[in-house]
Amino acid sequence: MTVIGAGAITAETDRHRPELVDVVRAAYLAHDAGDSANPHSSFLRFPDQRRSRIISLPAYLGGAFEVAGNKWIASFPDNTQHGIPRASATLILNDCITGYPFACMESSIISATRTAASAVLGAQTLLGARRARRVGMVGTGLIAQHVWRFLRDLEWEIDAFRLFDLDPAAAGRFAAVLAKDTEAELVAVDNVEEAFTDCDLVVLSTVAGEPHLHDPRLLAHHPVVLHLSLRDLAPEMILAAQNFTDDVDHAVRERTSLHLTEQRTGNRDFIDGTLADLLRERLDRDPTRPAIFSPFGLGVLDLAVGKWVYDRVISAGGGHRVSDFFSGVGA
Ligand SMILES: NC(=O)c1ccc[n+]([C@@H]2O[C@H](COP(=O)([O-])OP(=O)(O)OC[C@H]3O[C@@H](n4cnc5c(N)ncnc54)[C@H](O)[C@@H]3O)[C@@H](O)[C@H]2O)c1
Repeated sequence: MTVIGAGAITAETDRHRPELVDVVRAAYLAHDAGDSANPHSSFLRFPDQRRSRIISLPAYLGGAFEVAGNKWIASFPDNTQHGIPRASATLILNDCITGYPFACMESSIISATRTAASAVLGAQTLLGARRARRVGMVGTGLIAQHVWRFLRDLEWEIDAFRLFDLDPAAAGRFAAVLAKDTEAELVAVDNVEEAFTDCDLVVLSTVAGEPHLHDPRLLAHHPVVLHLSLRDLAPEMILAAQNFTDDVDHAVRERTSLHLTEQRTGNRDFIDGTLADLLRERLDRDPTRPAIFSPFGLGVLDLAVGKWVYDRVISAGGGHRVSDFFSGVGA
């Protein structure tokens, strides 16, 4: 068993974002080809803490990856009031021949990395280029920062940002981070509508549990919306757009906006398809309509990025080997 901590993982992910987008693309295509098993995530919730949860994402991914495993990710939103991040996570990788776990990895970075890689892959696919005139960001926490690092390292051309967070100090801090690396115009806005106005790309990464955006007129200029936080948009907004996700059966559950829309309409006809459908050119974006990408976040993506990081760390001689972890098995 090898234990790999955040430092070693960050060292790899920080230097290789373009390659990681290719890793995530390969995972989506393997999943689309049926070379995976990705049961529904399990949500552990607490009777006396409504906002907190721990999610388990077991998966198997074949193709070039050939690995199984489980991500166990906790979200405790109140953590941030005590100066520690909201999410914490562990990824276990299992060998597909023996079933034995061979790695235990810090996984909040892997999780944020695969989420941001999938987001920029969706953005690039839906916009048709690594270019956005103006990007609106709603919710400027950890995931937004990872999305920004991918946009930066993939050399997106962006003229301006509009930043909105319920906590104005968070938007201000985010603007300061961006200012180090971009000459784009940076404006922290006072209301969420301004993060949509004239933005051809809008990134939603809040921790909203219920829809707080209701007016389809926010989409009148046909933006691409990356709905990473999954629960921000009321059904009337979903119904005003083309909708794409990563896996329909996964995304239409757990009171996501897609799930609420299914409950409202009684069907899933409003979902156009998956990112893999777009990547394989089985579907096209209609540029005369807004497009919303709501990726549920599949365990196969954690496996793909986790295994890629593991291979690199091991080949560089890193990680902490625990030779007496199992009984009856040689070191
Ligand atoms: N789809 C996926 O694959 C995937 C993967 C990982 C995380 N996520 C989701 O991404 C979201 C963001 O995660 P994070 O780690 O960045 O969280 P975070 O706590 O670091 O940041 C969230 C930010 O959103 C702000 N916020 C909360 N409600 C808001 C609202 N209504 N309007 C504007 N801002 C608001 C908060 O003030 C905070 O700054 C979470 O909902 C998480 O579940 C999705």
